[in-house]
Amino acid sequence: MANILEIPKKVIYGRGSISVIGSELKKIGNKFLFLTGKSSLKKSGHLDKIVEEVKKYDLEVIVITGIPSEPNVDVVYQICDKITGNNFDGIVGIGGGSVMDMAKIIAFRLKTKLNPIDAKGKEVEDALPIIAIPTTSGTGSEATKFAVITDDVVKDKFIIMGSALIPTLTIIDPELTFTMPPLVAASTGIDAFSHAIESYLSRNSTPIVEYFSKSAIVDIYNFLPEAVLNQLESAKERMAYAAFWAGVAINNTKTTLVHAMSRPLGGIYKIPHGIANGILLPAYLRFNAPFISDEKYKFLKNTLGGDPPEKVEELLKKLNLPTKISQVVREKIDLDLLVKRTLEAKFNVENNIRPVKEEDVYNLFYEVM
Ligand SMILES: [Fe+2]
Repeated sequence: MANILEIPKKVIYGRGSISVIGSELKKIGNKFLFLTGKSSLKKSGHLDKIVEEVKKYDLEVIVITGIPSEPNVDVVYQICDKITGNNFDGIVGIGGGSVMDMAKIIAFRLKTKLNPIDAKGKEVEDALPIIAIPTTSGTGSEATKFAVITDDVVKDKFIIMGSALIPTLTIIDPELTFTMPPLVAASTGIDAFSHAIESYLSRNSTPIVEYFSKSAIVDIYNFLPEAVLNQLESAKERMAYAAFWAGVAINNTKTTLVHAMSRPLGGIYKIPHGIANGILLPAYLRFNAPFISDEKYKFLKNTLGGDPPEKVEELLKKLNLPTKISQVVREKIDLDLLVKRTLEAKFNVENNIRPVKEEDVYNLFYEVM
């Protein structure tokens, strides 16, 4: 059996490591598109410093701010309209998962001229160089070949994926995550926790990937509460690295049933990704328990200090995160549609350690309603 470990080509990390951005971009090219989120990077002063740094190296930069969280395909076309006529050497995404994913999709679109919807379910073969700089500790997009986007017409989130979407350069500067609001830190942290657990329990798990999954499970469980509740910078730093390890892990195993079920909760009911994963995680662990090997179950039990589903529920409550869908959605839930969309995410469902039947998905959604 030949396993492949796919990771970003170059990862620069450490507090203050963003200062090398100019010299590193110069090695890739001369003209870059920078994408960032709404305003926090600007407010914290980091964006101005980054642009200043880049200009020292005579690089030409166009900055587009205001990428919304969980964006739809229209945002891709709006950005492409704004930048027509420019030839970029790379696309830089500085922000949370939505921004980094947008950088990947723009890099794909500019290089291939294809629409993201046309890439649904196919391997993406080409893209401009992608530079990923996370400002949250969760999504793992800085380590993966995945980009998620929403199609508002059919109210669906979908993934485009391919090795061409793995960042050419990733810079993890934990200081960029220090100003994250507690709710964002909690929900993105739980997304990373879900990546770590799902990759560990995935059918595609291998001894090398397990190393990343296990390290991430241990660190996230130990440091996320301190990062969120006590705003401890050392804990936030550990979270920045653990989210990356969890990203490396899912990049090589893919996610499983939690992500298959959380995607429609985001696409249809706009539940933020990490919050949806958190709601599903305890039920997922209970459902899979009889199929988890003794060795893996023992590791989870020892790390979390008790029954895994209960301990995850405790963690969610400690972080003030919801544990039921009814706590975040007021409208009537279309259960049939949620189940249909879950089962359409075939590669996630088939990757689940316990074979999943339609009635299982109904039961799991009932359990977290
Ligand atoms: Fe995720």
